[in-house]
Amino acid sequence: MLTDAWGRAVTDVRISVTKRCNFSCVYCHDEGLGPVARPGAPHGEELTVAEVERLVAVAREFGVRSVKFTGGEPLVRDDLEEIVGRTVRQIPDVSLTTNGSLLAGRAAGLRDAGLKRVNVSIDTTEPEAFRRIRHGAIAPVLDGVRAALRVGLTPVKLNMVVFRDTVAAIPRMVDYVAGDAGLRLQLIQFMPELVQHERFSVDLRDVRRWLEEHASTVLVREMHHRRIYLFGSTEVELVDPVRNPEFCANCHRIRITHRGELKGCLNRQDDLIPTRGLSDARLREAFRQVITRRVPYYGGYITDIGASVPERFVAAGASAPKARGAETAAAASGALGARAEE
Ligand SMILES: C[S@@+](CC[C@H](N)C(=O)[O-])C[C@H]1O[C@@H](n2cnc3c(N)ncnc32)[C@H](O)[C@@H]1O
Ligand code: SF4
Repeated sequence: MLTDAWGRAVTDVRISVTKRCNFSCVYCHDEGLGPVARPGAPHGEELTVAEVERLVAVAREFGVRSVKFTGGEPLVRDDLEEIVGRTVRQIPDVSLTTNGSLLAGRAAGLRDAGLKRVNVSIDTTEPEAFRRIRHGAIAPVLDGVRAALRVGLTPVKLNMVVFRDTVAAIPRMVDYVAGDAGLRLQLIQFMPELVQHERFSVDLRDVRRWLEEHASTVLVREMHHRRIYLFGSTEVELVDPVRNPEFCANCHRIRITHRGELKGCLNRQDDLIPTRGLSDARLREAFRQVITRRVPYYGGYITDIGASVPERFVAAGASAPKARGAETAAAASGALGARAEE
């Protein structure tokens, strides 16, 4: 297993198999690949099945234990089942993040290919709001969620980006997941780093307070010390990476772009290492290099964060460049409070 200079072992790889997408969500960071392309856009540069297989084989040699496919929208690729099938032969723990719109007809095939779990991105269950935010229809997405549950791609995690236009919908979303034991909800803090739109950010203290007050039980996960809020037996988790050095301290993931570049951090676009055309020996060297160069974004790369930096970062000499100034604090939002009273 390879460990970076900050003591973080790399155990997980997230592979973008395309930058094409059939939605265009207002907040999309597109994994740092630049704006998503339309589904019919030329896609000759995308990783082939064989290229994915080779990258995954090397990742396995270095101790990577799980692979998540993402995009763009990974299901715009007709050969995703084949990609999954070849990947699970190397690393069995394979999951997928999808907007869900194309999932209903393919959930069984993906499960048969070896896919273990799926994250489906849904920011609200209200059709009009869904369309405004994602520029797509919600009905096929809900069909996709039901199909994933039916074929056993569980737990089906629903990803909800928490930002100005969704925060009031949290109670309704919690009600939705609490009705099904196979569902979990991940409330993902809007990340402004790659898309700017600072005005989208909301103060998560209101969200935390609402969850504390309404959950039946609150557990604390060892990793990240993240809280898990139980509503009945359904887990709701708040993922809050922004300006959070503890989140980065626990990041065990590298990324691979749709063009096969290795990437050490979602928030950076200056750390890409191309791998196409490399010999096996040079490909292994590229893996070593991307891991050697990894720096925790908050606490290592951005240090003026006004939050305490984990001790081991200080010991490692949090001396990487201050890339950008402090961003303005998230705008407070009373929307959730108002909804919670209803
Ligand atoms: C870029 S998408 C790619 C996979 C797929 N198209 C989807 O929507 O699930 C991966 C995840 O990132 C989330 N996401 C996109 N932009 C974000 C942002 N600015 N802040 C937080 N999460 C974001 C999406 O909601 C989704 O759950
Ligand atoms: S569906 Fe996913 S990739 Fe497509 S625009 Fe939305 S967040 Fe981005």
